[in-house]
Amino acid sequence: MNLSLPWPRDSVLTFALEVGIVAVVLLVTGIQMRRRGRRAFATRLLAGTGIAGTICGVAVLAAFTIAPTLPTPFVPFEAQFVTNPVPDTPENIQAGRILYQQNCVVCHGAQGRGDGPAALTLNPRPVNLQLHVPQHPDGFLFYWIAEGVQGTQMPSWKDKLTETQRWQIVRYLHELAALTGGP
Ligand code: HEC
Repeated sequence: MNLSLPWPRDSVLTFALEVGIVAVVLLVTGIQMRRRGRRAFATRLLAGTGIAGTICGVAVLAAFTIAPTLPTPFVPFEAQFVTNPVPDTPENIQAGRILYQQNCVVCHGAQGRGDGPAALTLNPRPVNLQLHVPQHPDGFLFYWIAEGVQGTQMPSWKDKLTETQRWQIVRYLHELAALTGGP
């Protein structure tokens, strides 16, 4: 099944908690307003409680079903400001495609869906790159490719691929991500 939220379980639960607090505040204020006889205002506040409560419930449900449990892997703060020095040309994308096919398909799958031949043996499984690549700055992707991902079998590539090759792969990953919904 490919249905998966872009946010990890922890973030979804934090969001649910915040919306839940809003629901409680609206409820308490609504009850007070009702006691003071401000019925119309109270009704609006209590309707808000219903909406916030529903969102909170849906978020909790999603957190335990379709949210991935793996949090976003560690990246240094500055990594987000690093931009791709390799130009967005067909040649670089093609070079990235070949490098990806040689080194990454075995785990990440030909389409980046996390379904390569070795994926089933991995714990945690690779995420769907088509969904995840657009959600992270290029500097993050580059950092993970260079350093590997702690706590997973994602290897570090900085000794195996040159910096240019790693950036070419990042260019190709965007091409892959654009395939979402495709075959
Ligand atoms: C031995 C299996 C394996 C190989 C080979 C591999 N990866 Fe990974 N990769 C993983 C696993 C496992 C993770 C951690 C789960 C995740 O974040 O997808 C990961 C994570 C990533 C991430 C972070 C995704 C995210 O949003 O969390 C990127 C980007 C990535 N890999 C790119 C690559 C590239 C590019 C290559 C080839 C140069 C490659 N991987 C080769 C297993 C592998």
